[in-house]
Amino acid sequence: MTFNSASEKRQYVNAMFARIAHRYDLMNRVMTGGQDVRWRRLMVRKAALPPGGRFLDVATGTGDVAFEALRQQPDLALVVGADFTLPMMYVGQMRAAARPVRWTGADTLCLPFPDDTFDAVASGFLMRNVTDVAAALAEQRRVTRPGGRVLVLDVPRPPDTPWGRLFRFYFHQIVPRLGGLISGQPDAYTYLPHSADTFLRPNELAAMMESVGLRHVRYQMLMLGTVALHVGVK
Ligand SMILES: C[S@@+](CC[C@H](N)C(=O)[O-])C[C@H]1O[C@@H](n2cnc3c(N)ncnc32)[C@H](O)[C@@H]1O
Repeated sequence: MTFNSASEKRQYVNAMFARIAHRYDLMNRVMTGGQDVRWRRLMVRKAALPPGGRFLDVATGTGDVAFEALRQQPDLALVVGADFTLPMMYVGQMRAAARPVRWTGADTLCLPFPDDTFDAVASGFLMRNVTDVAAALAEQRRVTRPGGRVLVLDVPRPPDTPWGRLFRFYFHQIVPRLGGLISGQPDAYTYLPHSADTFLRPNELAAMMESVGLRHVRYQMLMLGTVALHVGVK
């Protein structure tokens, strides 16, 4: 799957998430055996949010990262969930009940917040989808306060190990079929492994975070090296 331009990829991603929004959460749980919940929990813990803090969940989708922040720290002063696919956030709003997420339509390359607004800015499974990873990271750094954290959870390019090859088989052969059954959109789940194959390796993503001015960049590998959580400090 190749895109001829950045705008073609942006439009594809936006329309694809709109099509799968109604089955997105179910497919995540099935595809990861429920592990995705644990990964988001870990990311929010690493955000080290202070009481009364401000948190931005970039590419919030159906809101799982934002909800987890409120679960771990119910007294946060502000939790924003921002995304450019409104049907994803609509599903999130339906699930939110009384949880006070401020849903915001926004492109991650142009966040509608002043500099130094948030104590932590996190994105779950966004970066493979953006057309300019460095620009997205720079924008996340911009809206983080000095000393605050930027966190990135994603599926990097699979490692060239026996487990990586098995994972690639699962991702390319099984996931699109599962996705077709559950969401009726097998092409969306063909795009998913392709986006991982063409994404950065974990050390490359760490270097890119440093290149936009983040300090103390660290990452840890999850799920036998197939999922990565990166953390940097502004
Ligand atoms: C795989 S979902 C992740 C949703 C959620 N963060 C999670 O952990 O489940 C990726 C989300 O990124 C959003 N997205 C992709 N590119 C974006 C962009 N340039 N600006 C804003 N949102 C974007 C999509 O609309 C989608 O909701």
